[in-house]
Amino acid sequence: MVANPGGGSTDAGGGPVRHIPVLLFEVLQALQPAPGKIILDGTFGAGGYTSAILAAGADVIALDRDPTAITAGQEMVAAHGGHLSLIHSQFSDLASHAPEAGLDGVVLDIGVSSMQIDEAERGFSFQKNGPLDMRMSASGVSAADVVNRAKVADLIRIFHFLGEESQAPRIAHAIEKKRTEKPFETTRDLAGLIEIVTPRKMKDKIHPATRVFQALRVFVNDELGELAQALFAAERSLKPGGRLVVVTFHSLEDRIVKKFFSDRSGRASGSRHLPVVHERAATFEAIGKQMVSASEAEAEANPRARSAKLRAGLRTQAAPGAADLSIFDLPNLASLGKLGA
Ligand SMILES: C[S@@+](CC[C@H](N)C(=O)[O-])C[C@H]1O[C@@H](n2cnc3c(N)ncnc32)[C@H](O)[C@@H]1O
Repeated sequence: MVANPGGGSTDAGGGPVRHIPVLLFEVLQALQPAPGKIILDGTFGAGGYTSAILAAGADVIALDRDPTAITAGQEMVAAHGGHLSLIHSQFSDLASHAPEAGLDGVVLDIGVSSMQIDEAERGFSFQKNGPLDMRMSASGVSAADVVNRAKVADLIRIFHFLGEESQAPRIAHAIEKKRTEKPFETTRDLAGLIEIVTPRKMKDKIHPATRVFQALRVFVNDELGELAQALFAAERSLKPGGRLVVVTFHSLEDRIVKKFFSDRSGRASGSRHLPVVHERAATFEAIGKQMVSASEAEAEANPRARSAKLRAGLRTQAAPGAADLSIFDLPNLASLGKLGA
């Protein structure tokens, strides 16, 4: 299910948008920051969670893969004299930033920030014309590279698995035809083609390019692989009694978090390839309700919160499980290789 339409948003004056932290109260309830605790915020963004955690008296190690988020956060670092360290890093690598004695909490708020969507030149939004980029880290393969160079069969797999786009073959073939005339350079180039190939119907709630843009963003940033590795890393880095809190915005990500906690509950194998149910020591116990979503009031005030889902677990004494990606049943997109380079 698509949650983040990539449409961006502006304030009443049409100016740049502030990122409103989603499920903040619920995150703090699950995380329980307090003086003397060390919490790792893997998705610093605009620092909304981080500043609330600091205000509760805990120290924060914050990460973000986006260099602009790190630059913008320097004022906050200076204001908190030693209680906040802000590191340019992917959250899959969070274990290497954890203190030897372990962390008291890890929080992840998966996805893009309002600032990323809002800046046309980052190329996340089909409603703002900009280069077809979508790289959160500002390095590596861009969305334009994928669209211009991936084999048509691979485009179909990306749109189908990562965007759940039912018109994936039709769109991929149209891209293949169009790019022989002129390579795709801008978000408009791509959104315009998708509008022609799959015109919007009256009943459609979302723009026809929504799913393809989501799929490209998830692929370009390896968002599912990053999340899966971060969950394993959090399991290795939390102290017994430490708390892992994850907020997701679409079903592919929520499924990964749900499968992880289910696998680590010690009850089920979590993989359909492993029919035998293994009894193992649980590495996480549930905290509160299995899944928490936004209150009506929050969803009304912040449309981004409507699709948010929070899951949380309390680390037990048991040794970490194996970092076995098969528990997630992720689509295998490894055959994409080097995009025909
Ligand atoms: C939804 S925003 C977080 C907002 C933040 N909780 C707040 O309250 O301001 C997500 C942030 O996570 C970052 N991010 C996404 N994937 C990441 C990854 N794999 N490693 C590190 N940061 C990542 C993005 O660059 C973005 O700044």
